[in-house]
Amino acid sequence: SSYQPVPTALTGKKVVVTAGGTREPLDPVRYLTNHSSGKMGYAIAHAAQLAGAEVTLISANSSLQIPNHVRLIKVETAADMLTAVQKAFQSADVLIMSAAIADFRPAHVADRKIKKSTDNQRMTLDLIRNPDILETVGQTKQKDQVMIGFAAETNDLIMNAQKKIKAKNLDMIVANDVSKKTIGFNSDNNQVTFLFANGDQIKTDVESKQQIANRLVRLIADKFL
Ligand code: CTP
Ligand code: CA
Repeated sequence: SSYQPVPTALTGKKVVVTAGGTREPLDPVRYLTNHSSGKMGYAIAHAAQLAGAEVTLISANSSLQIPNHVRLIKVETAADMLTAVQKAFQSADVLIMSAAIADFRPAHVADRKIKKSTDNQRMTLDLIRNPDILETVGQTKQKDQVMIGFAAETNDLIMNAQKKIKAKNLDMIVANDVSKKTIGFNSDNNQVTFLFANGDQIKTDVESKQQIANRLVRLIADKFL
């Protein structure tokens, strides 16, 4: 079954989508990051725009082409992303957090390149927790604002995703199995389970990320707006 965006489903709605993986600098030439490509988030931004929404895409490291008629805000770190999301969320109807945000960052960022020397055969990185963006902006959430998260899991997918709906006070979470090579990170395809706060579950087949994005946008319009 194919899900085409309904051109007026999100007319007049402001949708904020985050995408990509944050980069946490260690020194001027190095950073910590993850395998996120941004494909899922860019596909969601595209689907929401085709459904008539005014879309802001807040993107950490991604080399993908910006979807037409989408406002792009580029960020680097989780801290940058928090600032951008806080600002955009104030006037948003829907926030969809598909970005893979680094949970930790180097506690100290060296202002010069860190050199190896003959005597350091080991090195320990001191990391510090990043703020949780969904939890932070969730504190200012208004009744009519919709917040959707993603859960990247290698095991106990549904149980872990359900915990995140509660912990982050979400309307819905997209549970994503990232243990397989053919779906999830970097792949063009994905298979997800949409989990709702009331316990409802919808499991998709393996489909293109654009198709999954179209279904997500349709569900948002049908269930929440
Ligand atoms: N998220 C966030 N801020 C963070 C980390 C994650 O807003 N600092 C968001 C992600 O964008 C995603 C959701 O929270 O929508 C779940 O992210 P995930 O990494 O799966 O869960 P965590 O809560 O970080 O827990 P863990 O990585 O330990 O499983
Ligand atoms: Ca995490």
